[in-house]
Amino acid sequence: MSSHKQPSTIRKTVKQGHDHKPLLFPKQFLWGAAGSAHQVEGWNEHNDWWIWEQKGGNIARGEVSGRSADEYHRFPEDFDFAKALGHNAHRLSIEWSRIEPYQGQWNEKEVEHYRKVLRALKDRGLKVFLTLHHFTNPEWFAEAGGWEQKESVQLFVRFVQFVAKEYKGLVDFWITINEPVVYVTQGYLAGVWPPQKKSFIRAHRAFFHMIAAHKKAYRAIHAVVDTKSHQAKVGIAQNTISLYSYRKHSLVDYVFLQLVDWFWNHSFFSFSKKCHDFIGINYYFHYRLQKAHIRSYKFFIDIRQERRDASDIGWEVYPPGILDVLLDFSSYRLPLYITENGIATDNDHRRQRYIVGYLKEIYHAIRSGVPVKGYLYWSLIDNFEWEKGFASRFGLIAVDYKTLKRTVKQSGYLLAEIAKGNAITHDHLRFLGHGSEGEQGST
Ligand code: FCB
Repeated sequence: MSSHKQPSTIRKTVKQGHDHKPLLFPKQFLWGAAGSAHQVEGWNEHNDWWIWEQKGGNIARGEVSGRSADEYHRFPEDFDFAKALGHNAHRLSIEWSRIEPYQGQWNEKEVEHYRKVLRALKDRGLKVFLTLHHFTNPEWFAEAGGWEQKESVQLFVRFVQFVAKEYKGLVDFWITINEPVVYVTQGYLAGVWPPQKKSFIRAHRAFFHMIAAHKKAYRAIHAVVDTKSHQAKVGIAQNTISLYSYRKHSLVDYVFLQLVDWFWNHSFFSFSKKCHDFIGINYYFHYRLQKAHIRSYKFFIDIRQERRDASDIGWEVYPPGILDVLLDFSSYRLPLYITENGIATDNDHRRQRYIVGYLKEIYHAIRSGVPVKGYLYWSLIDNFEWEKGFASRFGLIAVDYKTLKRTVKQSGYLLAEIAKGNAITHDHLRFLGHGSEGEQGST
């Protein structure tokens, strides 16, 4: 065959290769976005983060949460956006320090405020995921020793019981604690968040108190909420990572990865069996282990050195990682909800590619039998990203911090299309593109 005939043969093959079938998600799949009180509300003056911020904290550019995105007042507008964007679920947290600003004193005004907030979601037909602890603690609780003190368990459970009684008809999914391993690592091992400790013993104590608190809170919520016809759904939101080893032949690296995987992804569940009705999966991280340098504590590579696709804060964009984690977590035989997944970037094209890329992998996980029941993008609106401050923009909706004006990003409309159609169409797949070379972010 002469070579000049080849191009037309190839063109023909490419044309026939198109597959226009949409990737359908299961009926009743939940679509939405997430947020947390301290990051979006503003003026959370009674918690330990606020106090730490006023004392100088350790936050990029010396920022403080201040009025943040003022969702405390603008929640009806934000929830209108969520509904208009086709969301049928929303995740938010309740600020313990607003409800109980002083030990044992409940603030009725704030209790009513959150009742309005939760009703506003219900009125718009959204399922509610309510987080009860999302990194912040009341000042009085922190001053008495925070999660290191034995009493932390009882103090938290008393708050949970109170909240469960108040809001039992308004919540669909109770998330007792957000990312306990992250909280303990940042606050007690790395020492970059309040209470800024670097102690294995303290970390250990705080972690086991959180486990005990979750178990008791789990039972307390069921005791308050359950009726003959309705059973509460209680769980945690777990930060998950997928791990990859470069040296397949190395036993040291293999064992090291198994330990990291167990500690980070599974330890909380190992100690709280039978106290989860579902698992909330927060997924952002894919770590690459080049070689375990045990002595220097340098284990994972900075993926920017390989010029990989990354967010503006250097977190690798690697959609197959979420498939890994979901396949792994399916062994718990519990419904899985993606309670967070998102990207910090000022480049909204990258966010669109991110959303389609990760959702496609979630679709494959479902096809292979993993019981994923919902996807909540982090976050609905731009917000205060902890020690990174306001520059890391995760939102589907942009917030102008001067005017507080909200503007839906193209990625917000894209997720809306997917949610409304309950499917990724052939058209959406075009967003996948290439997305690596030369697109490195900086911290
Ligand atoms: C998660 C946190 C959430 C937000 C995202 C980016 O670990 O739960 O509050 O900061 O990361």
